[in-house]
Amino acid sequence: MKVGIIYWTGTGNTETMANAIAEGVKKVADVEIKTVGDLSSPDDVLAYDKLLLGCPAMGDEVLEEDEFQPFYDEIKGKLGDKLVGFFGPYDWGEGEWMESWCADAEAAGIKLFDKGYIIQQDDLDNEADNCALYGENFAKA
Ligand SMILES: Cc1cc2nc3c(=O)[nH]c(=O)nc-3n(C[C@H](O)[C@H](O)[C@H](O)COP(=O)(O)O)c2cc1C
Repeated sequence: MKVGIIYWTGTGNTETMANAIAEGVKKVADVEIKTVGDLSSPDDVLAYDKLLLGCPAMGDEVLEEDEFQPFYDEIKGKLGDKLVGFFGPYDWGEGEWMESWCADAEAAGIKLFDKGYIIQQDDLDNEADNCALYGENFAKA
């Protein structure tokens, strides 16, 4: 089984989460980590058995609009039965962007794992173990 972790990052916090989550996934499955910019086409992600998508809160409680949102819009109707998990960091908000993202995914019929895993960016240093646990649980689900 191969898990794809695809993310967008501006200042590295989503990348930190992606790498820590991958440590947990690796315990039970193969994992590949890529940024959205690494993909030659959005449809590349359809080759993975399960998908973890990461994006921070941006704009005013929305996904990053130039790269990540178009990528997500392109794939969201094509994911079929694939298990998908969302994660991302935030700063001053309360996670509203993730609630909207999960609601959108549910409306699109995406098979979502959990409710989206969010971390306030100041807590990132203390959350590596929890990220790994999230990744392991996702891969086992
Ligand atoms: C342009 C911009 C908009 C942002 N909007 C929000 C927001 O609406 N709510 C929030 O909680 N954090 C917001 N943030 C903070 C980021 O979500 C936070 O810094 C996150 O850790 C960035 O992740 P990254 O290092 O992967 O880019 C914003 C940051 C930037 C640069």
